[in-house]
This record gives sequence, structure tokens and C-alpha cells, in this order.
Amino acid sequence: MQLTLFDINTKTINNITNPNSYKGIYSFHKYWGKKPTESIAFFIENCTKESDIVLDPFLGSGFISRECLSRKRRFIGIDLNPFAIEHTNFLLELPKASIFQSAVKEIEKKVKQKINETYLIGNQKIASHYLWNNDSLLKVWIRPEVGRNRIELEPTSFDLEKIKCFSNYTVRNIRNINFFTNSKINSKPEMSIYDLFTYRALHNIDLLLDEIQLFPDLIKRALLLTLTSSSGQMSSMVFAITNRGKTKNKISNKVEVGSWVIGYWRPQLHFEINVWNCFESRANKLYKALLNIDEHKYQKYESIELLLEKKQGTSIINGDCIDTMKQIPEKSIKLICTDPPHSDRIPYLELSEMWNAILNKTVFFEKEIVVSNAKERNKKKTEFIEKMKLFISESSRILTDDGTLLIYFNARDQQSWKFLEILKIGVNLQFIGAFPMEYSTNSVVQDNRKGGMTTDYALVLKKIGYNINFQHKLDSIPGWSVSMPQIVSVA
Ligand SMILES: C[S@@+](CC[C@H](N)C(=O)[O-])C[C@H]1O[C@@H](n2cnc3c(N)ncnc32)[C@H](O)[C@@H]1O
Repeated sequence: MQLTLFDINTKTINNITNPNSYKGIYSFHKYWGKKPTESIAFFIENCTKESDIVLDPFLGSGFISRECLSRKRRFIGIDLNPFAIEHTNFLLELPKASIFQSAVKEIEKKVKQKINETYLIGNQKIASHYLWNNDSLLKVWIRPEVGRNRIELEPTSFDLEKIKCFSNYTVRNIRNINFFTNSKINSKPEMSIYDLFTYRALHNIDLLLDEIQLFPDLIKRALLLTLTSSSGQMSSMVFAITNRGKTKNKISNKVEVGSWVIGYWRPQLHFEINVWNCFESRANKLYKALLNIDEHKYQKYESIELLLEKKQGTSIINGDCIDTMKQIPEKSIKLICTDPPHSDRIPYLELSEMWNAILNKTVFFEKEIVVSNAKERNKKKTEFIEKMKLFISESSRILTDDGTLLIYFNARDQQSWKFLEILKIGVNLQFIGAFPMEYSTNSVVQDNRKGGMTTDYALVLKKIGYNINFQHKLDSIPGWSVSMPQIVSVA
């Protein structure tokens, strides 16, 4: 079975603007601002044929790579974020479910007990959760031997002593984190990994990393991503949900486990969750997703040059998109389909820093196209607009005469859309229409401050002089409009 979430023959065109939620392998790892695949598939199928080249210069989680390769298109993906490259390479070379499962079992044999010993409580049981109020321990939870209801215990001096054993633990396998002063995501330069995790959690993550590093590359990548995917739940950023289920003035005292959402907040009332349990549950999720996918390894080429000589395959590049697009020959790309950074909405590299530190990857923040609250980064709107204009003009150069450019965009202020002014001067591209994308604004991460736009937009551009031959299909997309989206200003 090929992994495509959308089949143009069986789904209606309505799915393009109101797509399904992510499933299986596509829902395994969080990445802020994932784009649904339905509209991507529509454009791949209508704008390109086999062996044509599709480019996404702002790759993100990289779903589009599989959507292209499973349809026998060649694909070039670029992203500055090393995490995005790891995730895309993972999607393109998934391990067999059985091999992944054996690797997890092997790790289990080696470290589960060691990790669980760090959560041992006085009665020889293993704690699953610790509820903290800032730095004071409020409750210890254990799983029951029968049934589903957890057992909540008062903390004992044994529990406190156990925690003390790890104070001053120095992490071995995670590189130093680079944070900036960004109040939007609660990061400060003086913060370190020790502000995000308990010493005990870091000790246990190190145990997992010791084992993961022993595996061959393909399985190691899947295991590392299982770890990054579960790292939020392993952190001290898991908030406790209180007062849920209020009925008729009765307030419930029940506390539920929330999740790490976005940014680096350590909520006052928060959980510390057993690191093995977090890892295992994520590994199970991946295992189940892998069961539904035929192993398929797509041919990858180190350089764009090599890919250009072939009829099939992909090249995935970690770097700045403008620098990399300059290496692409003119008129060689049939479709550019991309979701660039949306001005000041999501500082991707700052948010991915926890994952990149675990993956031990170096990040080049200077080249990021973004508007960041972090003053020391000096990432302003003027630079954002200039870089986006360069992206458009490079797109114009490398697209074939019958090429199409599809840009997903949403910014809550008019100024951030100004890069499109380049269409009036000097580029060989023309705006032909846009349609709204309801999906991504439903995400908890999206910026829905007062005055913000309520939907993302997909903007369709084509080379001047070329007549799109599937105009009738575009016309039937719900909300399709030949005028630019009306921007709501918050000024
Ligand atoms: C909106 S996200 C893309 C999300 C993607 N559509 C998905 O479904 O996951 C924008 C991406 O642009 C990347 N980016 C930012 N500056 C870049 C640059 N100069 N060159 C290449 N990629 C860059 C970020 O790392 C981020 O992954």
C-alpha cells in the first residue's frame, strides 16, 4: 500500500479546503504548521507528470516528499532546520515494523529496568507520574495491577531522597541548548536543558540515547525521532488539567495529564512522567503506523546535480533555500509547492531547539527567514520581506514555462504580505487565484489573536503567458477566488 492520504478519484474536491486530519505516520511527530496533503496531491497530479521535478524550499516535516515520490515525480526538498531534514529522510526510508519493534525490545531489555529503578517508590512499585507544584512534590501516581484507575499516593521521604540522588546530574548525550530572549515562547538565553527536564528525566534520556546510538543509521533515526517525539511528555512542561468536568457548580478535584504544547513554559502545576513509559507509548504508535505501510525506500541523491541526471528520486538538502535554489538550473522545475514561514507566527528554529539538541544537530539561526520576538536575533519584517522576494524571483527563474507556484500563506498584518509586490516588477510570474485552507487554523498552535486572519490561503501563481489547462478544476475549489485575499489589518 502506498502512503498517500488523498486519492483524487475517490475524494471530492471539497477535501482540498477542508481536509482530513493527519493519520498514521503523518501524525507520529509534532511539527508546527504541518500542511494537509490533499491540496498538495491535487496540484502534484494536475500540474506535473511522471519524472517532472517538484520543489519545496521550506520543507518542514516533509510529507510532500512522499506524496511526490509515490506518484513517481522527482522531488527536491530544502529546509534550514536539521530536524525537518531528519524527519523527511525518515519518511523516505521507513524501517520495517518488525525490525523497529525488535530494536525497541532490545532497548527495553537493556534499560527499562534501569530507568524504572529511578522511579521506584517505598513499596517497591514503579511510579508512572509525579505531580509537582513548582518545586514541591504533591502526589505520586502508580498504575494499578488490575483495572485502569490510577493509584494516587502522598509523597514519602523515600521519594524525595530518590529525587535528590539525581541532583547535579550532568547530561552526556545532549548538546547545549541555544535560547534567545523570546517572551512569546518563554525562552531566555540563560535557560538550559536543566530548566526543561528534571535531572532524573535527563539521566534516563541519556540511558536511552546510549542504546539508540548503537543501532545502524536507518533504525537509529527512527528511534531518535521516537525520542524527540516523546521528549515533550518527558519534560517538566506537561501541565496538569484541573477542574475539568464541572457539573452544576460541583468542581471536580480530579487532576488530568495535559501535554506539552508550544514554547518552553514550565507550568506551576505540572507532571514528571516516567521516561520509559513515554518512550514506549510513542514507539508503539510508530510501530502501528509502520504496520500499515509497505516498506519502500526511495532513491536519494546527495546533490541536486545528480538528481537532475536521473529520471526518478529525490534530493533533500539541509541549508538556506535562497542559496540552494541558486544552484538549480533555470526552467527545470515544474511545480514549486511550499508553505514558507508566516512572518512572526512560528519561530521554527527556536521551537525545534530542544529536538535539535537531542539529535545533536548544529543549527544556523542567522539564515532563518522569520520575524522573531527575540531582539538579539534582529529578525525584522523588512528582512523577511526582502528574503521572500528573493524566494519568488528565484522561483520565477527556475520554473519551466508551464510551471506553477503554490504558496500557502497567512500573516495577520498587511505588511508581511508585501513580498508579493515583486509580482508587479521584474518577475515572470502572475497570480491567478487563491483559496482558503480551513485546516491549519484549527491547530492549537496557530495565532488567532484578535484581528488575525481566520484562515490560511493557498495562492496559485503561474508563468506569464502560460494557460493552465485545469482551470475548470480550480474554479470548483470551494472559496476559489481570482482576487488576492482581503487582508485584515490589526494595526
Ligand atoms: C511553515 S514551515 C513548513 C511546514 C511544512 N509545510 C509542514 O507541513 O511541515 C516553514 C519552514 O521553513 C523553514 N525555513 C525557515 N527559514 C529557512 C531558510 N532560510 N531556508 C530554508 N528553510 C527555511 C523552517 O525551518 C520551517 O520548517
